[in-house]
Amino acid sequence: MLNLAVFKLMLGALLAFACFFNQGWSSKCAADNPTVKQTQVGFQKTPIFLVEVQNNCPMCPVIDIHVKCGNFLQDLVNPKLFKVLGHNDCVVNGGLPLAPLQKISFNYSHQKFLMSPSIWYFQCE
Ligand SMILES: *[C@@H]1O[C@H](CO)[C@@H](O)[C@H](O)[C@H]1NC(C)=O
Repeated sequence: MLNLAVFKLMLGALLAFACFFNQGWSSKCAADNPTVKQTQVGFQKTPIFLVEVQNNCPMCPVIDIHVKCGNFLQDLVNPKLFKVLGHNDCVVNGGLPLAPLQKISFNYSHQKFLMSPSIWYFQCE
């Protein structure tokens, strides 16, 4: 009988531990914000920039990534990859998930637009 009580206690402790770890994971993921990196790859009069939007969380997909994109022009890129919704508001991959560590890349040929992520949601269990 004592063994059963000990077993239940241990099971409880284990569940609490697992729960704690689960939270630990999602908060760890929250520290891995998605990034928007720009690298100049063309140096003509009109420069070319390579844009890389990456989900830096190794455990959870991220959805609905919005980017501050200034006056970015929709004509410069396929809207499936990067859609201009309004001034300073662009959405990546049509809002669809980027898998853990997945990266979406495109080039645009124009003077540089400053870009930074504004909104995103991790899909941690
Ligand atoms: C962007 O342009 C560079 C240089 O022309 C090229 O090497 C690269 O493959 C291009 N990347 C994409 C995602 O179009």
